[in-house]
Amino acid sequence: MRYVAFPGHPLPVSQVCLGTMMFGDKCDAALSEAIVARALALGINAFDTAAMYSAGASEQYLGNALKTAAREQLFVTTKVVKGVDRNSILTSLDESLVRLQMSYVDLYLIHWPVQGMNLTEMMGALNEGVRAGKTRLVGCCNFPAYLLASANAVAAARGWAQLRCNQVAYNLMERGIEVEILPQASLEQIAITAYRPLAIGLLTGRFLPGMPMDAATRGMTDSRVLTWLSQHGRSLERFVAYAQAKGVEPAQLAAAWVMHHPAVTQPILGVSSLTQVESAAQVPGVILSPAERQEITDLFQTEVTEEGLQRFPGTRYNFPRMRRTLTLAVRE
Ligand SMILES: NC(=O)c1ccc[n+]([C@@H]2O[C@H](COP(=O)([O-])OP(=O)(O)OC[C@H]3O[C@@H](n4cnc5c(N)ncnc54)[C@H](OP(=O)(O)O)[C@@H]3O)[C@@H](O)[C@H]2O)c1
Repeated sequence: MRYVAFPGHPLPVSQVCLGTMMFGDKCDAALSEAIVARALALGINAFDTAAMYSAGASEQYLGNALKTAAREQLFVTTKVVKGVDRNSILTSLDESLVRLQMSYVDLYLIHWPVQGMNLTEMMGALNEGVRAGKTRLVGCCNFPAYLLASANAVAAARGWAQLRCNQVAYNLMERGIEVEILPQASLEQIAITAYRPLAIGLLTGRFLPGMPMDAATRGMTDSRVLTWLSQHGRSLERFVAYAQAKGVEPAQLAAAWVMHHPAVTQPILGVSSLTQVESAAQVPGVILSPAERQEITDLFQTEVTEEGLQRFPGTRYNFPRMRRTLTLAVRE
C-alpha cells in the first residue's frame, strides 16, 4: 500500500479509500466485516460511510469490523443524514458515532447542498462538532466551487473550522469537476475524495456493447450505466483492450486514472466482494505516466463541461439541476 497526506490531518492515508455504500445492501454483516478485515490486512486505513447508507447499517457494520483495530491508525469519514441546520448536523453526528462505536470520526461531511441552506448556521454547527472533539475535520460532498468558497469565507471570518474536503464524482465519463472544483482544490489545499471512479462498475469491462448484462450487478438497475453504455460503447472496448495490453484489470486502470489527477487525494473504491477489495488494494501499484494518462483520457470523447451535462432519468441527485435551482439563505 502507498500512503498520502490528507490536508489538515496528521495521519498518512492509504492512496485508496474503501467505499462502504453496499454494506447493508448487497453485503450482509458477515461479508461486510470480512471485506473490512481484508482491507485492513492489505493496508487500507481509510473508510467512507454515511448515515443514509442502508439506513445506518453501513456505519454499524463498519463500526463492528473496526472495533479491534487501532483507532488512531484509521481515517473514518461519515456524512450528515439530511438537513444542514444545526440540530440535524449535531444530532446526526451523535447518532453516527453510536452506530460506529467511536468517540470521533476523522472527517464529517455535508452530503448534498440543501434548498434554502443557511451557510452561517451550517458552518457554526460543523465547528461545534470539531470543538467537541467529535470530528477532526469537516467537509462537504457535491458542492460547486462557489458554494465551498462562500462557506469557508463565513468560517474564516469567525475563526471557525473550514471545509477541508469536497467529495465528488469523477471518472473517465464524468469529468465536470475538472472545470472549477479540481483547480479550486489545488489552489486552496482542499482534499478531493473521488467517488464513482468505476462509473458504477461500467469501467470494469463487465458491460460492453452486445454483451448480456449480469443480473447480479448494480448496472442492471441503474439507468446511468445504460446511458453511458450507449454513449461510450466503442470507447469502453478500446479501454478494456488498453488495460489488457498494460496487464492490469480495467477496474484498476480506471481507478488509477482518477488517482493520477494531481488534485485528487484518494479515489473511493466501492466494493461488494472480497475479490473486489483485493483488486482495489492493488490500484496504488498501477503507475501511469502523464502520456499514458492522456492516452487513456483520449479513448473517450467525454464532454468536459461544468459538473457534466448528462441527463439521467430517474436520478434523484443531479448536479446541473441542483445548480440551476439551488437557493441559499442570504449571508449575514
Ligand atoms: N458523497 C456522495 O454523494 C457519494 C455518492 C456515491 C458514492 N459515494 C461513496 O463512494 C463509494 C464508491 O461509489 P460507487 O460504489 O458508486 O462507485 P464505483 O466505484 O464506480 O462502483 C462500484 C461498483 O463497481 C463494481 N466493482 C468494484 N470493483 C470491481 C472489480 N474489481 N471488478 C468488477 N467490478 C467491480 C461493484 O459493482 P457490483 O456491486 O455490481 O459488483 C461495485 O459495487 C461508495 O461506496 C460510497 O462510499 C459517495
